[in-house]
Amino acid sequence: MSDETTIDPAEFRRIFAHLATGVSVLTAHGADGPVGMAANSVTSVSLDPPLVLVCPAKSSTTWPLIRESNAFCINIMASHHEAVTRAFAARVGDRFAGVGRVEKPTGFALDEALAWIECEIQNEHDAGDHTIVVARAVTMEASAQAASPLVFFRGAYGSFSGVELA
Ligand SMILES: Cc1cc2nc3c(=O)[nH]c(=O)nc-3n(C[C@H](O)[C@H](O)[C@H](O)COP(=O)(O)O)c2cc1C
Repeated sequence: MSDETTIDPAEFRRIFAHLATGVSVLTAHGADGPVGMAANSVTSVSLDPPLVLVCPAKSSTTWPLIRESNAFCINIMASHHEAVTRAFAARVGDRFAGVGRVEKPTGFALDEALAWIECEIQNEHDAGDHTIVVARAVTMEASAQAASPLVFFRGAYGSFSGVELA
């Protein structure tokens, strides 16, 4: 196998857009106030110790602000959170405008998220134009409400159907 990449980044993005994911919003206490960004690269990694990973782009202007605080809160977004999630991915505007939230030690728990996982950053690994950030879950909680997840697929937002949510 050659070391040379022969895959066009746009094609790589197009192909991986077929992998449906949930969507999270990472929130943290920035030096100048609340900060947050949408991310679909959140994955659970280890049960013991409880580790998660997220992959921020090196071009992200928000990630360095989160990183500075050494901690963040993962909000797993619900199907009715499309507009909120779009705001947390936009380069302009106040991402927290009109978003109900509860302040936590690591960040902010957004109202009606499906689950909240508070994390402390543990390790970072270089990965091309992204960084693989490994964080330790310190507190977690799931909503008591039955709600569908927000799903991202081929660049569009949708939801999950097919089972009755208890
Ligand atoms: C569904 C979705 C998933 C995203 N996942 C990631 C991600 O995993 N990592 C990342 O760095 N940016 C991700 N982004 C982009 C960020 O939310 C945001 O647009 C980007 O960080 C630019 O803003 P910033 O400069 O404030 O960071 C995602 C955006 C969307 C809409």
